[in-house]
Amino acid sequence: MKITLSVIKADVGSIGGHAVPGKKLVQAIEDHIKNEGSRLLSDFKIFHTGDDTAILMAHTKGKDNSDIHKLAWDAFVAGTKIAKEQGLYGAGQDLLKDAFSGNVRGMGPASCEMEFEERPAEPFILFACDKTDPGAFNYPLFRGFADPFHNAGILLSGDIARGFEFTVMDVNYTQGDRIITLNVPEDYYDLAVLLRDPEHYVIESVSSRASGSQAVAVSTSRLHNIAGKYTGKDDPVALVRSQKDFPSTGEILSPYATAHYVAGGDRGSHNVALMPVKLGEIISYFDGPAIITAAGLCVHNGKFTEPVDLFEQPFWDTIREKASQKTFAIREQGFFGVAMASMEELEYTGVVERIKELDKKFIIRSK
Ligand code: F6R
Ligand code: MG
Ligand code: MG
Repeated sequence: MKITLSVIKADVGSIGGHAVPGKKLVQAIEDHIKNEGSRLLSDFKIFHTGDDTAILMAHTKGKDNSDIHKLAWDAFVAGTKIAKEQGLYGAGQDLLKDAFSGNVRGMGPASCEMEFEERPAEPFILFACDKTDPGAFNYPLFRGFADPFHNAGILLSGDIARGFEFTVMDVNYTQGDRIITLNVPEDYYDLAVLLRDPEHYVIESVSSRASGSQAVAVSTSRLHNIAGKYTGKDDPVALVRSQKDFPSTGEILSPYATAHYVAGGDRGSHNVALMPVKLGEIISYFDGPAIITAAGLCVHNGKFTEPVDLFEQPFWDTIREKASQKTFAIREQGFFGVAMASMEELEYTGVVERIKELDKKFIIRSK
């Protein structure tokens, strides 16, 4: 059976600052999908990570289906109504356009979708980040798929050793989708050169070269490219299918043990370590830290199992401690040098305005 998984997520209001969506808000989103989605969806699940709510949907309508996108948009509008009634912070924040126009892409919410032939057993992971951007997935996906230190399947399994096809998007290009497709192992170094700049080049998808089947879909939208001003971090989501012709679930999770540094945290403008956290975790320290959740599920005939919280396992307590220590280490130098995000990231902030003013006061000293 050919199915489509769609994840659409947005921040439409939160309690206590940009911390967590209210229970009533999440319920309103869920009720809307339950009531209006029954003829469109074979199943759905709702998750929240930091201040964002993600709607995971299974259906047979393919990618970019306007009915599916409208269903999610209207659910976020219903959530926004509650956020306004309750006076939640940032009500409707990620709904950047007034009216829905066919597809949520370019309208504020993050989305990723995958259409594939369901395997007899179809395990997958829904990752959701808060307080960072989609380039946060570059490092763990590169290592989880292309590096035998994490994906031992490259050494131990014939099909996986045939490698993977990575599609990378130039997210600074706003006239359309500017993409490049590279194959590992032969294009490994070219891929590395692009992925080292996660604010510019972002993995959009990964497919198995043995089966041609898609393994990964990442939301690639950059809010600052849509809005032309700072509207919060993009807070990306990703779907990753696992096992058999793909890396195992554990191999895909393995690189997150690095707690790698990502752009995000306070005002989306700092570099902090990405902390793997439990489902539904809130935002706290320094408008962060940047967090990621991982829900493991199986889908069968378009129906989901209950989710399992993959970062709840005790191993990840140690990584949370490590992420805190790494964040402290860079926080010690405040906003100096690499502690703050690059100038490109600060494009729509006060720093740039201030430099423009100061620029006028610079003089060239006569010799
Ligand atoms: C929001 C976010 C936060 C805010 C910060 C300031 O998603 O990432 O870091 O940028 O809390 O928010 P305002 O300007 O709304 O007070
Ligand atoms: Mg927010
Ligand atoms: Mg958020």
